[in-house]
Amino acid sequence: MAILNIMKAGAPVLKTKCAPVKKVDAKLRHLLDDMAETMYKFNGIGIAAPQVGVSMRAVVIDIGDGILELINPVITMRDGSAIDSEGCLSVPDIYGDVERAAKIEVEYTTRYGKRRKLAAEKLLARCIQHECDHLDGILFIDIAKNLRRETGDDDE
Ligand code: NI
Repeated sequence: MAILNIMKAGAPVLKTKCAPVKKVDAKLRHLLDDMAETMYKFNGIGIAAPQVGVSMRAVVIDIGDGILELINPVITMRDGSAIDSEGCLSVPDIYGDVERAAKIEVEYTTRYGKRRKLAAEKLLARCIQHECDHLDGILFIDIAKNLRRETGDDDE
């Protein structure tokens, strides 16, 4: 595994709509492993492929419950709304309040090519929405209110 370089806000790849993953193979699994290692190294709770310069619809999340990999994720249900603070590995030390759906359902492909469905709420729902936004070229700073500079919180 390897620690990858994290793209920072301003990099064109972060403003680009990512292409679907066409082939779930060893090369993709290697990328997912490297994304996870990079996320843990920088104390993130989520990372999307474009954040490591790969314009592909894949994300890795760990909010403390173990690793969750979402390939070609599609949010199929959104319910309610909640506002909370977010950060991002691509926007160091900046935090802001983002309104998101409180509960979601997401369909995704696993690293072995199985299509699955997951219901999520609270932090996990927020993190999935944040990472899926990355796949569409949207950064949280594009939609946040009350942006502020802080250090030491969790990043997505
Ligand atoms: Ni992010």
